[in-house]
Amino acid sequence: MGLISDIKTIKRKDPATRHALEIILTYSGMHAIWTYRLAHLFWRGRLKLIARLLSSIARIITGVEIHPAARIGKNVVIDHGTGVVIGETAMIADDVLIYHGVTLGGTGNERGEKRHPTVCTGAMIAAGAKILGDIKVGMYAKVGANAVVLRDVPDFSTAVGIPARIIPNEKSSGAVCSLYSKASEKKDESSA
Ligand SMILES: CC(C)(COP(=O)(O)OP(=O)(O)OC[C@H]1O[C@@H](n2cnc3c(N)ncnc32)[C@H](O)[C@@H]1OP(=O)(O)O)[C@@H](O)C(=O)NCCC(=O)NCCS
Repeated sequence: MGLISDIKTIKRKDPATRHALEIILTYSGMHAIWTYRLAHLFWRGRLKLIARLLSSIARIITGVEIHPAARIGKNVVIDHGTGVVIGETAMIADDVLIYHGVTLGGTGNERGEKRHPTVCTGAMIAAGAKILGDIKVGMYAKVGANAVVLRDVPDFSTAVGIPARIIPNEKSSGAVCSLYSKASEKKDESSA
């Protein structure tokens, strides 16, 4: 989860970046993730008001709102930052790339504990996409720009349009987040 790993990931995923200092000083999506990590620690330590305050300050500065209770893995990049909203029960695995304008939100109809999406390892969510409800975006799946996704996206496939249609990939068996484990989610939740 270190700074160096974050910087290396940004260099790998964003051809526009030039050097580490530039990323540290100007990459607002990364500033939002670093602040989220601190806010998440406060949230887990039951200092929830401080956590929410940090998250609000990060939103004002970066335009990215991440609920401090959300779960975010390693090497997650939010490119261009602004306009991203990540809801309270959203889960994002490692190596996910998110562009500006993305919402990982609820539909407004959920009543269960998990109201927001789970995004699995290596997925890419393009600019403006809205992913709504307790659904999963599979491993290495792609969600196209401005798509509105209301159901699971299988591993390796692409989802485009409103509502999103699934374009299968030859690597896809139809499974969704095949390495995603409910057990690890539960373990995580109990430590929160
Ligand atoms: C979805 C995307 C990732 C391409 O994925 P892909 O798997 O290579 O898909 P393809 O380009 O082969 O397109 C497959 C189909 O989806 C359609 N499609 C692609 N992107 C689409 C979009 N955003 N909305 C609607 N349809 C789209 C294509 O027209 C094609 O349709 P067809 O099968 O009827 O011909 C890409 O189109 C996209 O949306 N990129 C945005 C990246 C971004 O956010 N950039 C911002 C940087 S600042």
